[in-house]
Amino acid sequence: MIAEEDPDPQRGSIEAGAANRPDRFELLYELGCAFAARIELGELLPLIAAKCREVLNADGISILLLDPEHNELYFPYVAQADPAVIERLRQLRFAANLGIAGAALKEGRAIRVVDAQRDTRHYHGVDLVTGLTTRDLLAVPLITHQGKVGVIEAVNSRGPAPFTEEDLAFFEALAGSIAVAIENARLYAQVRESEASLRTRIGVLRRDLARTDVFSKIIGSTSAMMEVFRLMESAAASSIPVLVEGETGTGKELVARAIHLASNRSDGPFVAINCASLPETLLESELFGHRRGAFTGAVRDNPGLFRAANGGVIFLDEISDMPMSMQAKLLRVLEEEEVVAVGDTFPRKVDVRVLSATNRDLKAEVERGNFRQDLYYRVAVFPIKLPPLRERREDIALLATHFLDLAAQRHRKRIQGFMPHTIEALTRYDWPGNVRELRNEIDRAVALARDGESIAPGHLTAAVAVGRREPSGTLQASPVNASRIARPAGDKGGDGAAEPLRKARAAFEARHILEALRQHDSNVSRTAQALGLSRAALQKKMKVYGLR
Ligand SMILES: Nc1ncnc2c1ncn2[C@@H]1O[C@H](COP(=O)(O)OP(=O)(O)OP(=O)(O)O)[C@@H](O)[C@H]1O
Ligand SMILES: [Mg+2]
Repeated sequence: MIAEEDPDPQRGSIEAGAANRPDRFELLYELGCAFAARIELGELLPLIAAKCREVLNADGISILLLDPEHNELYFPYVAQADPAVIERLRQLRFAANLGIAGAALKEGRAIRVVDAQRDTRHYHGVDLVTGLTTRDLLAVPLITHQGKVGVIEAVNSRGPAPFTEEDLAFFEALAGSIAVAIENARLYAQVRESEASLRTRIGVLRRDLARTDVFSKIIGSTSAMMEVFRLMESAAASSIPVLVEGETGTGKELVARAIHLASNRSDGPFVAINCASLPETLLESELFGHRRGAFTGAVRDNPGLFRAANGGVIFLDEISDMPMSMQAKLLRVLEEEEVVAVGDTFPRKVDVRVLSATNRDLKAEVERGNFRQDLYYRVAVFPIKLPPLRERREDIALLATHFLDLAAQRHRKRIQGFMPHTIEALTRYDWPGNVRELRNEIDRAVALARDGESIAPGHLTAAVAVGRREPSGTLQASPVNASRIARPAGDKGGDGAAEPLRKARAAFEARHILEALRQHDSNVSRTAQALGLSRAALQKKMKVYGLR
């Protein structure tokens, strides 16, 4: 400590002061504990400044931290009434050997100055910035066993006389706890920062992994599918609403789920609702929630799917079937980003990304007056059109093999693969139900096949086995009717309907022939004989059913 010339030597020694004010040492302990308990620098520094200012009865407390890289001192926190002064001080940096603070830091000891203006070490730069005049001052270095942290200063005593030696001793004792608390808070901030950056990196890696994983489950090698993948990548990288369009069973939901998983909302929920499956009144309360008692049967509050999807994605399936009045309400939600529950009076904020799907031409629905144009422009910002299977026949073998593996696992069978005619038949067929129908077909074939066998055309339904190729217009399922039917969860729809008799008869015949062939080790003459046919007639039928 440097004892400067004191105009009031009466104010005595440390011992005398301590005797007069024993509460200070108690306070010292309490403050030390309080500082050590604060772990965030942003909380700690204001507390230090406020408490020191109070106990030392100072006009101001400056905390100067050392930037060891540049060997400069700066003000990380300033307790000051004037915000302009705060701002100017926060921008100020000066060489670590400047001023009385610099001297305290360099010499590693506390300094008391009773008349700063007459002290040659005084750095006037700070006074110039603050517009205040430093009269008396205490400067104490902040040092831990790790090294120098900075300097703390008490400026201008508010009492009748300048700061005393006792004040300095007290401040110096306090500075030990302050330095340790600052050091800890900095280390904590470093750990937090590296944890945050690790989290970000893990998030990026996980999304990359998810993207590879989910995209790899979507089979397609044709240029049309390559374009789909490209669009999906862009959609996953942003938060804009996406409209997935395509005939029934083309993979619209699969694509929507993959976009969600590959996006930065993958940790949030994916909430799907089929807009065609609920009557209008229920749809509103399903989507936006309701208050208890809002209508008969509303026995408890329901937050609604939009709020359930907060932070994630809501998937509006079959959006073209949404009733007009609901379209108006949905538009409001998308514009305001808030929902009002049925029976509620105030809106609630929601952060939800909207992905929707339709198996109808939504633009045409707008033109027909069935879909609001303003809503169309909201949901169809980024359309992804999925090609029907008949337009990407090159993918059929790939898809069939993929589904064969899945089905074989599920049925616990070793299946050799497909016989060439089977692949031919599968490729020729027009697939009105698209990928879902193909999947069901393979599933069924694997169920029929014996362990160790290959899938023969006879394992296929007759229409597929003969590779029927009808004009696609007549083959397309009526999307209106198909989409109006609400499907129970888990039921992927499709092939439960009764087959026409001709088709059923052909299927039976193909299977029966295949079975007979198997029984006679594929010997055509003997099989023909067993079936009561001529060899030529059997061969003709085998050709029709692709049984070779
Ligand atoms: N490209 C693909 N690769 C692998 N599987 C696919 C592909 N496309 C569709 N699927 C599978 O086909 C089935 C139907 O897909 P999905 O339910 O996504 O179709 P959709 O277009 O939503 O049908 P719908 O119009 O009937 O609602 C699912 O089992 C899905 O996993
Ligand atoms: Mg679907």
